[in-house]
Amino acid sequence: MMTVSLSFKDFYAARKDAVDFRLRTLVPENSPYHASLFEAARYSLLSSAKRLRPLLALAVAETYGVSHLQAVNAACALELIHTYSLIHDDLPCMDDDDFRRGRPTLHKVFGESTALLAGDYLLTRAFEIIAKDPHLTSDKKVELIQILSERAGGDGMIGGQVMDLEAETAPPALSLLEIIHAKKTGCMILAAVEFGACLAGSPPDERTHLEAYAKEVGIAFQIIDDVLDETGSFEEMGKKPHSDLNNHKTTFATLLGIEEAKVRGALHLERAKAHLDNLPRDTTLLKQFADFAVNRRY
Ligand code: IPE
Ligand code: IPE
Ligand code: MG
Ligand code: MG
Ligand code: MG
Repeated sequence: MMTVSLSFKDFYAARKDAVDFRLRTLVPENSPYHASLFEAARYSLLSSAKRLRPLLALAVAETYGVSHLQAVNAACALELIHTYSLIHDDLPCMDDDDFRRGRPTLHKVFGESTALLAGDYLLTRAFEIIAKDPHLTSDKKVELIQILSERAGGDGMIGGQVMDLEAETAPPALSLLEIIHAKKTGCMILAAVEFGACLAGSPPDERTHLEAYAKEVGIAFQIIDDVLDETGSFEEMGKKPHSDLNNHKTTFATLLGIEEAKVRGALHLERAKAHLDNLPRDTTLLKQFADFAVNRRY
């Protein structure tokens, strides 16, 4: 049985440093002609953030004994896609938010057109990073591109964002809200776990259990985001609370109440961890990762 030697705290601190460092080099300051594009992309990408998706990909890979050195570029591609989704999510035509990651949102500082294009650039660059990664075989690159395009795409994260906006005027029932959350947020968390499994070459039957774990973590993660939108503070979260209220969003917190929503989040967390018990390896790190993702205060 494979064991993971780092404690979660040490894993998180060390790998977060590695991801933060690599992001700086993957999205450099560039071009004398349109430097504002790269400056804008770096403003959002390099702000203080949890780096949950790349770290989850690394945690899965390391559960199978794959070094973070091998996996870090691909993991960072997930963070580029996630950051682009946040830049666009904050635009006036979407959630119209003024703060993100502890700073004014990108469109507030650079204007809407540069924010839109910086998002476009990060999205495109993510695929370029995978295609050019010297650590990956061609087969792995194709598999990762398939995963990312599907999970971030029209039937994944983007589709979820469309449903989220439509739900502002047609309030969804709980069953539909769960689908929206699974798509807009769950799909990128699923992509992170699938990245780890792909990089590790984990066997198909084990991937099934890992994917079930990811889906439960994803839904719990967005339930807690809904709760924090009502209960959290700007100081802790780096974004202003009550965005959902201002946008007339239906959330787990509005449908169930804060306490019941937290109970739901905890239920999905327990289910996530139970799926890991089907794996013939040490999954302590992945269990602790799920605890961190769901019990966070920011
Ligand atoms: C925010 O994501 C958007 C959601 C999907 C809830 P995170 O909570 O992971 O935000 P960062 O990346 O740490 O800023
Ligand atoms: C965002 O959900 C999901 C994506 C960006 C894909 P939210 O709109 O709830 O995220 P926050 O609260 O703005 O971070
Ligand atoms: Mg939104
Ligand atoms: Mg938002
Ligand atoms: Mg939110």
